[in-house]
Amino acid sequence: MKTLFVRAFLLSLLILLLAGPDWALATAQSRPVPNPQLASRDVDVRVEALLKEMTLEEKVGQLVQFSAGYATGPGASNLRYDELVGKGQLGSMLNVVGAEATNHYQHIAMEKSRLHIPIIFGLDVIHGHRTTFPIPLAIAASWDPDAAKLVAHTSAVEARADGVPWVFSPMVDIARDPRWGRIVESNGEDPYLGSAMARAWVNGFQQGDLSRPDSVAVSVKHFAAYGAAIAGRDYNATDMSEITLRQVYLEPYHAAVEAGAATMMSSFNSINGIPASANPLTLTQILRKEWGFDGFVVSDWGAVSELLNHSIGADGATVARKALEAGVDMDMEGNLYGTTIAGQVRSGKIPEGVVDEAVRRILRVKYALGLFDHPYTAQGPAYEATPERRALARKVADETMVLLKNDPVEGVGSLLPLTSKTKKVALIGPMADNAAEMLGAWSGQSNPKDVITLKAELARRLGDRLLYAEGCGLLSGEDANVLKHVSFTGPTGADEHLPVPDDAKTIAEAVATAQNADIAIVALGEPTNWMEGEASSRVHLGFTGSQEKLLEAVAATGKPVVLVVLAGRPLVLKWAGAHVPAILEAWSPGIEAGPALADVLFGDVNPSGKLPASLPRAVGQEPLYYAQLPTGRPAHGDLSHMPRNSEEKFLSRYMDEENSALFPFGWGLSYTRFRYAQPTVSRAEVPVGEILAEHKPVTMVGVDVTNTGSVAGTEVVQLYIRNTVASVEQPVRELKGFTRVTLAPGETKHVEFPLGFDELSFYNVEIRRTVEPTTYTIWVGGSSLATAGTSFKVVE
Ligand code: BGC
Repeated sequence: MKTLFVRAFLLSLLILLLAGPDWALATAQSRPVPNPQLASRDVDVRVEALLKEMTLEEKVGQLVQFSAGYATGPGASNLRYDELVGKGQLGSMLNVVGAEATNHYQHIAMEKSRLHIPIIFGLDVIHGHRTTFPIPLAIAASWDPDAAKLVAHTSAVEARADGVPWVFSPMVDIARDPRWGRIVESNGEDPYLGSAMARAWVNGFQQGDLSRPDSVAVSVKHFAAYGAAIAGRDYNATDMSEITLRQVYLEPYHAAVEAGAATMMSSFNSINGIPASANPLTLTQILRKEWGFDGFVVSDWGAVSELLNHSIGADGATVARKALEAGVDMDMEGNLYGTTIAGQVRSGKIPEGVVDEAVRRILRVKYALGLFDHPYTAQGPAYEATPERRALARKVADETMVLLKNDPVEGVGSLLPLTSKTKKVALIGPMADNAAEMLGAWSGQSNPKDVITLKAELARRLGDRLLYAEGCGLLSGEDANVLKHVSFTGPTGADEHLPVPDDAKTIAEAVATAQNADIAIVALGEPTNWMEGEASSRVHLGFTGSQEKLLEAVAATGKPVVLVVLAGRPLVLKWAGAHVPAILEAWSPGIEAGPALADVLFGDVNPSGKLPASLPRAVGQEPLYYAQLPTGRPAHGDLSHMPRNSEEKFLSRYMDEENSALFPFGWGLSYTRFRYAQPTVSRAEVPVGEILAEHKPVTMVGVDVTNTGSVAGTEVVQLYIRNTVASVEQPVRELKGFTRVTLAPGETKHVEFPLGFDELSFYNVEIRRTVEPTTYTIWVGGSSLATAGTSFKVVE
């Protein structure tokens, strides 16, 4: 973070040269600087000089943020934006997009306000800005941090060109319960994968230098543990041990901070009884003192005013003070900092130093972004999904597809990839030609017109060999009745009630269509705007509406069926898992949905995605994740690999369902096969003292991976460990390394993973990360079921 600030000033000169006339104009329009310290090259000197000139109201103004565009939360609370900006009482705005809109407010700030402090505009840029890529959960399924980095960088370029230098992204909440709709924005269930992705998103957005015209500041969200909402109900409390909090949930945020994240967003939930947006343990002790975070924290939408509902204070002034003192620097839409903080400073309730510190943090980021020197945005050409952007969106989407199942069918063989022998293809389902649904949740600035659907792409490839039937709607009449009472106008301005056709009739039509074809591709899912993302928790995790009925009716024709799942969360695919021979998990693939799906269906691209979250057999298993803690009575089917004991009743299991996932974490098939040799360790025993002292790799796990099939393919090689004896229970398996390896048919590659303090340590009861003498079991393979194993000892 520090280096970002230092480089900021030097680079602004270069940017002026690179960025053309509008930025030069912007500088020319900035006022002459009266105080020489305000023009210092040292950001801290400039910040201190400015702080000295600010009135208390102006200081507090820097801590206030309002949405002057569409609402991404309940009820916008202020409409006097021009006036507040002019008085220096509104330092940040969200949901204002585009050169014209942002420049409007920026001109007021720079020309009318007394101190000419620029506004920082923030926006949710979650999986693309104008160019919409697959949802984050899908990108996590690529297990390719470089893909995340490219998506983030492309989004940064587009956002900055649209007047947005600050994005509310990445979302790094660990999500282990797909009832929670926001799993769509996450990297799934695992802290190791989640941390790798978190780093990549931050690096892609920030480019290591906030002042570049192709970088934006991130706001890592939602700090903290928001994904552990009890029962998967959004905004619900979280309650967990401090060890679990640190070892599982906080890891990706920490990785993001280490990668230089400029800002963080505090979350809505409470953690062990203390709301996250007024939580001294997470916001002060851990974030600032232990991790050394020197950026600023913005609250989530209204999270400061919602502290009243959390009942930690009887009035707005009290809860605002608690939030500020805990370390929330900016109040998003809460309307409490602006109205209560100055008074409390004057009455001595809040030391002015607390306000000064929050202002400093915010001003430093504004300087680092170069906003003081080039506050305006040039009006660029209208967005166009150029061939380059499309190519990138397609490449990323290709990598996100997870082939869950591809069983041979009698007389046909494996259904996928489709061959030229397939004469007629019946494409069926409400997702097959649904452009808006391909964009996924949080696709604010996207346009369904940019989407190529599966139907459009298959029609291009197959001509009149393609038959099509929608089959049914995404919602049943009952769903639609419930949803019509929920008012929601998303960023696209759409208030969408999806049409519900007469299902009995349309399903019959779809069956007839399947009967006229050699194979049926059935594209099903859940409606993005209603069922996925924020405030979209579900208790039934099947396909919505009549889609399951449609699938069963099409399968009953006896025609071979390929199921394509288009959903933002793990769905329960129990019936399909048992009755449909081929299943492709395709998430929400973005603008290149059709071409990417066709790439995989036709085998132009060999699928390489792996599940970032377990797919359950039944909702009652949730929260279901592979890295469970051991029990005293493990059951057959647990990942603990304890001896089979299924005759015994008194086991930790369900009587009406297996414990295991239907498709486990890390799972994903290929059109080729990979063979894993016995893994080895470069050192089989290491003294504990060496690991504690050195904090660097102490042994290397090596394995040969061979492509034994007849086509090239990419395998995500995964390393899992189990700490078999420790003073605090450790998970039955934990991911501690992964890499993507591309192999030609017959080719073998040697893969190595380091193990050292970072991979082997855990939190002890004193809440200290440590390593103890023990034996680690090690597995390397293509999923969390990997069986090729070895071991490694830590000795006294
Ligand atoms: C969401 C955040 C988002 C914010 C601003 C909130 O409702 O929880 O993820 O960044 O709105 O749009």
